[in-house]
Amino acid sequence: MKVLGIETSCDETSVAVVESGARIRSNIVASQVDLHARYGGVVPEVASRHHVERFIPVLREALAVGETKLSEVGLIAVTNRPGLLGALLVGVSAAKALAMALKRPIVAIHHLEGHLYSAFLADSTLHERHPIVALIVSGGHTQLVWMEGYGRYALLGATRDDAAGEAFDKGARLLGLPYPGGPNLSKLAVGGDPERVPFPRGMISEGLDFSFSGLKTALRTFLDKDRGATPLADVAASYEAAIVDVLVTKLRRALQMTGVNTACVVGGVAANRLLQRRMKAMAVEEGVHLVMPEPMLCTDNAAMIAAAGYWRYHTCGPDALSFDTLATAPLATFQRA
Ligand code: KG4
Ligand code: ZN
Repeated sequence: MKVLGIETSCDETSVAVVESGARIRSNIVASQVDLHARYGGVVPEVASRHHVERFIPVLREALAVGETKLSEVGLIAVTNRPGLLGALLVGVSAAKALAMALKRPIVAIHHLEGHLYSAFLADSTLHERHPIVALIVSGGHTQLVWMEGYGRYALLGATRDDAAGEAFDKGARLLGLPYPGGPNLSKLAVGGDPERVPFPRGMISEGLDFSFSGLKTALRTFLDKDRGATPLADVAASYEAAIVDVLVTKLRRALQMTGVNTACVVGGVAANRLLQRRMKAMAVEEGVHLVMPEPMLCTDNAAMIAAAGYWRYHTCGPDALSFDTLATAPLATFQRA
């Protein structure tokens, strides 16, 4: 079955064709990064307008690259929550129109469930490896999720304030780096001394929740006092190390507490090189099977939505066309229809 995936929850317009929840035929992502860079962050109104402009060309490209006619699409999967409401509505309206015109089933996918399924696209053996502990690290979320099977999730821990990606982005802004902060801060950190500045590791010694807001404040205080004395590469490397230390420690703790031996790290921050290296080393030490998708599948894309949609459809069936679009929504557990 060819699944058409649609993702417009933030600043990437993305359409993908994925076969049977596993084989990516196309995964087109039109990023709006350049548009938002001058504002230092995503401007919701600008994002919505550009989704409207870019949607049809991106859809055409996804079908062409995926060598798929619209008539061959068997299922439509679209992100309907959570995200910027105006941005989500562009993808959802287009998806509903396509489902009606083509007379095809549609499923509404939670954005974080899409991120979880990027790991299954990267390693299909995950389907036989439940339960899995997943760490979702994106611009808006930082969560540890217990995955019992498709649609059966439990929250193990979450951030109490900023998300990991937000910590990267806010830190980058304080360092005078352009948007998007995460990748730029990481580039600046290359060759820097990660032990030069002893930044705090929020809540590192207890539980499975996260806190990154103190780190951002510590960076601001440090920069005010330091007045440029410390090389910025050292500051960036120390800041990056503080975030990565916390993420690695918490995933290790979640694995030890649950006794689970399969893990995945997904979401935009999973594209971070240091995080990848440190997570892989931790997985070897713990004897855990770890999946971290390639960067293209870590950041927002429609292939992950199509993959989640395929499994959703085969587990719970289609959604009614009247489904809602929501700016906020917890990652829920689904019951078989
Ligand atoms: O998953 P994603 O593409 O969008 C959301 O759902 O939020 O994640 C975007 C986040 C941003 O905060 C961005 O700075 C961060 O992921 N990010 C990175 C890297 N690439 C993207 N953070 C650190 N290092 C990277 N290489
Ligand atoms: Zn995302």
